[in-house]
Amino acid sequence: MRAGVIGAGSIGGVVARALRDGSVPDAVLSGVLDPAGPPDLPVLTLDELLSTSDLVVEAAGQRALAELGPRVLAAGRDLLVVSVGALADDALLEELLAAGPGELHLSTGAIGGLDLLRAAARMAPLSRVTIETTKRAANLVQPWMSAAEAERLRTASAPVELMRGPARKVTAAFPKSANVAASVALAVGDWDAVEAVVVADPGAELTSHVITAQGTAGSYRFEIRNQPSPVTPTSSAVVPHAVLGAIAALAQPRVVFR
Ligand SMILES: NC(=O)c1ccc[n+]([C@@H]2O[C@H](COP(=O)([O-])OP(=O)(O)OC[C@H]3O[C@@H](n4cnc5c(N)ncnc54)[C@H](O)[C@@H]3O)[C@@H](O)[C@H]2O)c1
Repeated sequence: MRAGVIGAGSIGGVVARALRDGSVPDAVLSGVLDPAGPPDLPVLTLDELLSTSDLVVEAAGQRALAELGPRVLAAGRDLLVVSVGALADDALLEELLAAGPGELHLSTGAIGGLDLLRAAARMAPLSRVTIETTKRAANLVQPWMSAAEAERLRTASAPVELMRGPARKVTAAFPKSANVAASVALAVGDWDAVEAVVVADPGAELTSHVITAQGTAGSYRFEIRNQPSPVTPTSSAVVPHAVLGAIAALAQPRVVFR
C-alpha cells in the first residue's frame, strides 16, 4: 500500500517518518502535502499525492479535511481521517460519504472503547453517554475566549469545568481537543445522546478522557490517560500510532478487530 499524508505535524510527521522508515509491513510512504514543507520528507503537490497514493491520511485539521477530503475520495483514493471533529458538520459528512469511489475510514485517534459502544448502542439505545476530557489548562485556550478568560485559564491554580453540553457544541468549541467527543457520538450513532465535558486542570500531566455509558447491554466506563505529544500538546503522543495501526490493518488485514 502506498500511503500519502496530508499535514506532517505532530501526528502526520510521526506517521510519515514511520512509513518512510519501513515500520509498517506492506506499506510505503508516497509523500506528504504540507505548506510547512518538512525538509526531511518528500513533499508533493495534491495532484502528485493523489496519483502516487492508494490511501491518504488526513492529519492537517478540520479546514483541510473539508477542502481536500472530497477530492481525495473522488479521485478513488481511500481516506483515513484524523480530524474526526470536523464530522460534527453533517453537511461535510454527507459530502464525504457521497464523494467516492474512495473509501472513508475514521481513526480511533486518542481513545478506545468505540467498538463496544457501537455494539451496545446497536442492542438498544444507550442512555447517559458522557465523555469528560481533562487537559492542562494552558492548552485549552481558544480564540473565542475573551482576553480575561484566557488569562484566567493560563493562571488557574485549580481545575475549572470550561464547558458541559451536547457533543456537537463542545466539539465545535474545542476543535483541537474534542475530536474524541465526535468519535463517541459517531460510534453510538447519535449526537444528541452524548454529553461532552471539558475540564482545564493546571496540574494535569496527562490528558484524560473518561467515557461512561449505560444501556440495556450494560454499564461502561473507560478511563484513558494519554501522554501529550511533545510537539503539539493539544494532541496525544499515541495518536500517530493509532493511525499506523489502522494503516497496517488496511495494508495487511490478518488479525484485525472489527
Ligand atoms: N481523532 C483524535 O483523537 C485526534 C487526536 C488529536 C488530534 N486530532 C486532530 O488531528 C489533527 C492534526 O493534529 P496535530 O497535532 O498533528 O496538528 P499539528 O498542528 O501538529 O499539525 C498539523 C499540520 O498540518 C499542516 N496543515 C495545515 N493545513 C494544511 C493544509 N490545508 N494542507 C496540508 N497541510 C496542512 C500544518 O502545516 C501542520 O504541519 C488536528 O485536526 C487535531 O485536532 C485528532
